[in-house]
Amino acid sequence: MSEHDATSPRSFAVIGAGYVGLVSAVGLARMGHRIELVETNPDRLVALRNGLVPFTELGVQEALTAALASGAVTVLDHTSRTSAEIVLICVGTPIDDQGHADVSAVEAVLADLAMMETHPIIVVRSTMPVGTSQRLLRDGHVRDEARFFTVPEFLAQGTALADFAKPTRVVIGRSPMSDRAAEAVLVEVFGAFGGPLRLVSLEEAELIKNGANAFLALKISFANEMAGLAERSGADVGPVLEAVGLDPRIGSTYLRPSFGFGGSCLPKELQTIATSGQERGLEMHVTAAAHLANIAHQERFAERIEAILGGVKGRRIGVLGLAFKAGTDDIRSSPAVRLAGWLLEHGAEVHAYDPAAAGHAARTLPDLIVAGTAVDAVTGADVAVIATEWPEFRALDWASVKDTMATPLVIDGRRLLDPTVMRELGFRYERVGSPTSEAAGVPLR
Ligand code: UDX
Repeated sequence: MSEHDATSPRSFAVIGAGYVGLVSAVGLARMGHRIELVETNPDRLVALRNGLVPFTELGVQEALTAALASGAVTVLDHTSRTSAEIVLICVGTPIDDQGHADVSAVEAVLADLAMMETHPIIVVRSTMPVGTSQRLLRDGHVRDEARFFTVPEFLAQGTALADFAKPTRVVIGRSPMSDRAAEAVLVEVFGAFGGPLRLVSLEEAELIKNGANAFLALKISFANEMAGLAERSGADVGPVLEAVGLDPRIGSTYLRPSFGFGGSCLPKELQTIATSGQERGLEMHVTAAAHLANIAHQERFAERIEAILGGVKGRRIGVLGLAFKAGTDDIRSSPAVRLAGWLLEHGAEVHAYDPAAAGHAARTLPDLIVAGTAVDAVTGADVAVIATEWPEFRALDWASVKDTMATPLVIDGRRLLDPTVMRELGFRYERVGSPTSEAAGVPLR
């Protein structure tokens, strides 16, 4: 038992070893629980059986190594092999172009569980659009409604373990006919992490998760729209949003402008919440517009690069960063990958570097030239574009980098670098949220 321990040890099966599943598994193991981690994807299974985390996430490799060594986590290849008291369903629920979530992986796990002789408490942690749990119950996917719960996970990639250990809130969704003993077990297990506890209906739990992600996306969309307006108004958006956010009713978080946001949750949640409302006869003006705005911001940034260069065809462009944000190798809905794809489509020669995500991006974009270092990516380039806010790009020796570039031009999609320093070094430096400089000083080839 660890020093965190405040509950009786329980046995869990965690189905799906993605970010949510694997982080839940090692996070629960640290609380003294025993976990059977079930993964059916052959590549992930091989990695896990070799003790390896199949993605990049701070601290998870060390936590998994410790949990496997102590026997707290064991790896299984099928749900039917579990004998756990509590099953956490953490499988993917991707959406299609129309914003409909595919919950077939959840249904498949429920079908396996329904065949088993054991009678575990079932907890869905996968994100599902509002109304999904009720549909699963109605359509007979769940054997025992009383032992069916949803406990949404609010972790962010890059800080997933810390977020899991210290949740901002614990939300438990349950049916009106829930088994009170099962509910008490979940309150004990998840309540032990601290944070305000909310016992709500199944649809309320779904809507809390959908709503929290969509609201974060709205805030960033607003910041990015303000960045565009600042660019065209001769203002810098930095001090503007800083002062706007000083109002505690607004707050300063999630107001960091970029050329668009990505990841597996925020873009998806805007679409699912808009679709959920539209299916119920609501127009969902705000969330639907924010989704379109996010696409438009990304296009506008690409077009700005094109305008500054006077066309991208035949230009050599160094793209720094491919992950959807720093601290992860995830490229799902990555604005950086979309930008690299746009530049390639428009005839540019794109050399890109990312400390974690380059392999995934290269598989998506076969014409991308993957560089081994940031300096290699921008050597000989007509422009360096900062697309992901990895700290190592800030730490680059930009004075030396300048000598390797064909043109000392940096366009910063993340507002990562200091404009004064860059201009003193002799760069033409442009960034999201600041007007394009008039006196460029640096001739473009
Ligand atoms: C998000 C939520 O934060 C988390 O609570 C939920 O459980 C899953 O979705 P994640 O997708 O890991 O987590 O990333 P997050 O850190 O929220 O960033 C999402 C995107 O927004 C990234 O592309 C990031 O670069 C961008 N972003 C974030 C901004 O552009 N500006 C900001 O101020 C914050």
